[in-house]
Amino acid sequence: MQESHIAGARAVTTNQADIYDKLEEVVRKYATTDYLRPIAEHTRKAFAEAEKFVEDFYNKIPAGHSSYKVILDSGCGTGESTLNIARQHPDIPVIGIDKSAARLTKAGGAGVSGASAFPQNAFLVRAELLDFWRLALEAVQAGRWHIPYHALYYPNPWPKQSEATRRFHLHPIFPTLLQLGDTIEMRTNWEIYAREFAEAAQVGKDPCLCGDDNTGTISCEAFEPERPITAFERKYKEARQQLWRVSIHHK
Ligand SMILES: C[S@@+](CC[C@H](N)C(=O)[O-])C[C@H]1O[C@@H](n2cnc3c(N)ncnc32)[C@H](O)[C@@H]1O
Repeated sequence: MQESHIAGARAVTTNQADIYDKLEEVVRKYATTDYLRPIAEHTRKAFAEAEKFVEDFYNKIPAGHSSYKVILDSGCGTGESTLNIARQHPDIPVIGIDKSAARLTKAGGAGVSGASAFPQNAFLVRAELLDFWRLALEAVQAGRWHIPYHALYYPNPWPKQSEATRRFHLHPIFPTLLQLGDTIEMRTNWEIYAREFAEAAQVGKDPCLCGDDNTGTISCEAFEPERPITAFERKYKEARQQLWRVSIHHK
């Protein structure tokens, strides 16, 4: 097992020395097969609530929208980033999604600057991302939603090599995720995860696989947030861990 710098927050411990060796094979396989797992009823309900929130938000302002702009914050945990992003984009509804009721109930708590003011454009919902994302893609393809920005901050790394295919980019959901957002930003404290995510995006965006001739750009870089915007980011920053960011720009 390898472990990098630790002070406070635990750094990722892994038995993987480099990016997953079968990455290209796995990403190509899922790019050409349909992910057919049935969508759980509770996530359908959660998605309907999110969609209603978006509709109500736009109904309050003068009409003229062909499709609604929506920002996603996937795996939002305590929702700190959802509230921060919502404050940065007051004209766009921001949906924070997490499956953990325990984390969501801490939303608006310690660490959220100006916690008393829950932005009107922020909405937190308990749901399974693997299902929520497929419903969101349906909304995009039907022209109901347009997602300019999709945050995926500090997803569970599944660091054991034997668990690699649980990582979002090595999972059948990846082709769906890759289509959700003009810009998708993934942050992690594990360099290998960042490099894998960027490589998987590169493979997944191959026009022969995705039928999309939009070139776009993919970047993968170490970064230092001036001000942490998620609970995990704060922990990692305090522990002086190196953070990584992958940005996929489709347009
Ligand atoms: C490491 S935490 C990061 C939380 C937050 N983004 C932050 O930076 O503080 C990962 C979060 O993703 C959520 N999560 C992981 N897999 C999920 C899934 N399949 N569906 C919904 N939420 C998921 C977990 O419940 C957890 O809150």
